[in-house]
Amino acid sequence: MAAPLQAQSAPAPSGGTGIIAPEKAREGIDLEVNGERFRHTGDPKMPLLWYLRDVLRLTGTKYAGERGSGSGADLVIVNGKLVSAVAVTIEELHIGKSGSERPGNVLTVEGLAGGDGKLHPLQQAFVDEDAIGCGYCTPGWLMAAKELLDRKRNPSDDDIDQLPNLCRCGCQTRVRRAIKRVAAATSGNNKP
Ligand code: FES
Repeated sequence: MAAPLQAQSAPAPSGGTGIIAPEKAREGIDLEVNGERFRHTGDPKMPLLWYLRDVLRLTGTKYAGERGSGSGADLVIVNGKLVSAVAVTIEELHIGKSGSERPGNVLTVEGLAGGDGKLHPLQQAFVDEDAIGCGYCTPGWLMAAKELLDRKRNPSDDDIDQLPNLCRCGCQTRVRRAIKRVAAATSGNNKP
């Protein structure tokens, strides 16, 4: 994973004086991904997906077609809202320039499990309900389900069916069971 805010040493000036020329602070866009702070100093129009995958090497979030119109495998949560990582650029996140007190907060599937490696209840429920086929769509389902449960503790079948996700392996029914299982456990409703 890329280290945030690393200093670069300036080249030694010719002439052999031994003086190191100071370098101005590099401008960039600050963001927080899964609790770690980073500064993006490259192209501000870079889609979030490629920043996550190619720069931070967080490859759980997948390409889901132009403008995120595919399976929803590119979904992440930004400042509490479900966002297509293909469709949004770093610049469009409005997450503040360098020095921002409150950088934008991005949560990806890699940030779901606990620090001790324990699976998030949704991840465990997907395993328990055998809701994973090839797995390509799974990260997007998990993020969409988390965002749904964060705003609605006991979602209906319709709520789940309206999520912007598609499983080409045909796991929708088992995905729905997994989400209802977590909802039942957390809302005290034992009828998933
Ligand atoms: Fe294969 Fe959903 S598990 S596309």
